Amino acid sequence: MRPGKSTSSLPQNQVEVFSWWTGGGEAAGLDAMIEVFHQKHPEIEFINAAVAGGAGTNARAVLAARLQAGDPPDSWQGHAGQELIGTYVAAKQLEPLNFLYEQEGWLEVMPEMLIPLISQNGQIYSVPVNIHRANMLWYNPKVLSAHQIAPPQTFDEWIAAMEKLQAEGMEAPLSLGEQWTAMHLFETVLLASLGPQDYAGIWTGAVGWDTPQVQRALENYLTVMRFTNSDAASLAWQDAAQLVVNGDAAFNVMGDWAEGFFKELGKTPREDFGWQPVPGTQGTFQFLSDSFVLPANAPHRDAAVAWLKVAGSKEGQDAFNPVKGSIPARSDADRSLYDEYLQSAMDDWQTNTVVGSLSHGVVANDSWKQEIDTALGLFLQSKDVAVFQQALLAACQKSGPCP
Ligand code: GAL
Repeated sequence: MRPGKSTSSLPQNQVEVFSWWTGGGEAAGLDAMIEVFHQKHPEIEFINAAVAGGAGTNARAVLAARLQAGDPPDSWQGHAGQELIGTYVAAKQLEPLNFLYEQEGWLEVMPEMLIPLISQNGQIYSVPVNIHRANMLWYNPKVLSAHQIAPPQTFDEWIAAMEKLQAEGMEAPLSLGEQWTAMHLFETVLLASLGPQDYAGIWTGAVGWDTPQVQRALENYLTVMRFTNSDAASLAWQDAAQLVVNGDAAFNVMGDWAEGFFKELGKTPREDFGWQPVPGTQGTFQFLSDSFVLPANAPHRDAAVAWLKVAGSKEGQDAFNPVKGSIPARSDADRSLYDEYLQSAMDDWQTNTVVGSLSHGVVANDSWKQEIDTALGLFLQSKDVAVFQQALLAACQKSGPCP
């Protein structure tokens, strides 16, 4: 344990907030919310304990070690859904926040569907700052028109477009990064192949992992992987996304934090990058939500509560989200602050069928997700669909709802 961090009777003049937002549009969003915090609490020093690595791949391990050692930060970023409930709540690491929801009137402004995903036994455990969309296809409009390709509307059109691009000399039309981005791509192809109802069903046990439709989804994934770059493992999500705006790849599947990154690069929407749902997933919003928590033994509890109030406020969310490339969790945001893409995401969030993301904590707890990740890593090497399907079934039986 670090000196001076062991009791909550410490002076409340600092707050340590833990996240994985260190660059590429993400840090800028966090900075905008920190600025709101500074204005409201000039007396509290903000310690930004962010650990680099997209989707929290490194940060989550560092956090786990700190929690294990009894050295929690004052607040940390955790995804709404099974990541929160099945990991931190299950380990009794969090303090319930019902008092803040009552005080701040948050039940009236936070999405009703989100509350059960951050609650257990009537206790609410986190403060959602945003809604992100996972099933987005980003493309380079100039590359597509140079090859006379229209943005693909169906899965088959997408494959045909990538075959054409390959035949015309673009070796890897679909850019990919390190392994978590392969899982991100995987969940969107599952959704495109299964449709929203069966996709939701594989996480609840209503649809078996050993069914022919899952087999077809895995075959589709194998097909899509044929179009990706061979150096994927060494690229961060930002590197992979950048291949599209640089014109070195035509497509990238990534959550809408990519939009925050493109804007940070000074790229122009529609000209330098286009977007649409991953072909075959139109009408479905595969969501995730970043939220902040209060540890059961926060070293600076009062300061942490002050941070959470900013994270849940309209002002905090309207500062953070337009830069981060996400829409606010709150329903009363100032729409005029959001760009064309984000306004369209706001509309889709209201009208689409909503399903949860795997890579970003909604549908599976950490152990199940970890087992899927291991199976996926082996599959990326072996390309053996039958073995992969068997491993996915075993993972669901071990850590998910499968009998
Ligand atoms: C997600 C997170 C997003 C974004 C992304 C890439 O897990 O929810 O806010 O940070 O990782 O790092």
